[in-house]
Amino acid sequence: MTGLQGSPGVAVLASGEGTNLQAMIDAAQRGELAGHICLVLSDRPDAGALVRARAAGIASLHLLPAAYASRAHYDQALAAALLESGASLIVLAGFMRILEAGMVRQFEGRMLNIHPSLLPRHRGMQTHRRMLEAGEHMHGASVHFVVPELDAGPVLLQYRIAVQPWDTEASLARRVRQGEHLIYPTAVRWCLQGRVRSNHASILLDGQPLLAPLVLTRDGSDSLAGGSACATL
Ligand code: GRF
Repeated sequence: MTGLQGSPGVAVLASGEGTNLQAMIDAAQRGELAGHICLVLSDRPDAGALVRARAAGIASLHLLPAAYASRAHYDQALAAALLESGASLIVLAGFMRILEAGMVRQFEGRMLNIHPSLLPRHRGMQTHRRMLEAGEHMHGASVHFVVPELDAGPVLLQYRIAVQPWDTEASLARRVRQGEHLIYPTAVRWCLQGRVRSNHASILLDGQPLLAPLVLTRDGSDSLAGGSACATL
């Protein structure tokens, strides 16, 4: 386990490298997560995220989709593992499976995802390529609550960068991910501190409706500004 024992638990679902998980592990070890990571769960036995969890002494588990008769059976097993972990918050960090609506509803309001675009722009896959093809000037990442519709839940925090003439898919992936490592642990901390509440369509931050996502722009100050609230990281 990482961080304060007896503090709220976070379960992290990840399929890949796990750099966002690592950012949360690091935040927890610095005492900045307001909770501990109680479980890392993957659909891939070779996920880097599992290696990172083991290295940090965090309970980890992989559930192979092929071992289940259907998506519904898989999601039931996933939900059972999450409930057993006692997690109060579920964090999707590069978890490459679409969850069934029933599963999402079971955890709605306490499940976060991070998506590499400025939602509602570019839901789904290959966001960096689609953004370049569209010739847009701003790009980034969004932390949002998960609802049954893919990448459609209310957005809490965004990291925003200006697209440069030399940017490629690879450079954007790298630059956006650096920002994810700032905003995701921050969003998790706010949720664990009870500062954030969400229902299907909206978010309350410190009791006030969040009219637009808070935005971290890389201008050197790392300040967050939003439609109805301001905060610092
Ligand atoms: C991130 O780019 C995130 O936006 C997307 O999946 C990727 C996960 O990266 N949902 P990592 O495994 O945390 O390094």
